[in-house]
Amino acid sequence: MSKPTFKAKPMQVQVPASSANLGPGFDAFGLALAMHDRYVAQVLDDVVLDIDVTGEGADEVPRTDKNLLVKAMHKGFDFLGGRPKGLAIRALNVNPHGRGLGSSASAIIGGLVLARALVLNGEDQMNDIALLSLATDMEGHPDNVSAALFGGATISWFEMEKNKSSAHCVHLNVDPRIQAMAYIPSKALATSKARKMLPDSIPFADAVQNSRNASLMSHALTLRPDLLFTATEDFLHQSYRANAMPESFALVEKLRGAGVAAFISGAGPTVLALHTADQREVEELKLAGGKAFVATPLEIASRGAVLL
Ligand code: HSE
Repeated sequence: MSKPTFKAKPMQVQVPASSANLGPGFDAFGLALAMHDRYVAQVLDDVVLDIDVTGEGADEVPRTDKNLLVKAMHKGFDFLGGRPKGLAIRALNVNPHGRGLGSSASAIIGGLVLARALVLNGEDQMNDIALLSLATDMEGHPDNVSAALFGGATISWFEMEKNKSSAHCVHLNVDPRIQAMAYIPSKALATSKARKMLPDSIPFADAVQNSRNASLMSHALTLRPDLLFTATEDFLHQSYRANAMPESFALVEKLRGAGVAAFISGAGPTVLALHTADQREVEELKLAGGKAFVATPLEIASRGAVLL
């Protein structure tokens, strides 16, 4: 492959937050949420990495090539034939880190989309499915990155291609009546830690219940929001992770006890509720989280990452 030609002008992308699993759809379902990070990048002729981060996590994220956005850009450039000498990057982070709202997926998708946009004819060499596979390699699971890239709700899976397992996904248009309420705690939980808490096997009866509910999810999300309560009941992973986030687990139980379609968002510890409530009911839903959570109403983002 010949070395890429880089575009001189800066590129800007916005990427939605995302919730994964939606209860029983572990590592399969993703849902894009209208809370957007923005990233700007420009190729430089000098050997410089100039990174500026504001907003969520600004005090913690590295300003070096260990930065996840930079790592994703490098992965994208490598796929496209080579890296530029230098980069100037601006990140305006809104999505809180380590809360189960897809902040790492946002950085990975943002970085890959920017890298592709900065290369002349980049789209011809890296289509969305190739981009999704690169993103999944970095993230380790496809659900958040699929939603961040394509928007709406997504179902992801793997296929063997040339002796390599590649991620694929389909996009669902979510019923416009459906909205989300995120209950965001102040403490973070690493996805890697939450994944280590999962069992090697689960009882057959639980697997049956889980596959029933997960199968119902597509229909509930696209046409029948009244089925979301059943469709979001998980038998696969949440209870095994409860010790790492007891307050979140208790809130899921409390909300479900009141008939709300609530679940742990991704690997947690944010709790997400899907609903079709009116304004007055939304205020009640907000209060249900109590003081330990910041209740944040969120629209479903019908579009994924967009160049601005
Ligand atoms: N499916 C992943 C998990 C999502 O639950 O571990 C992480 O955001």
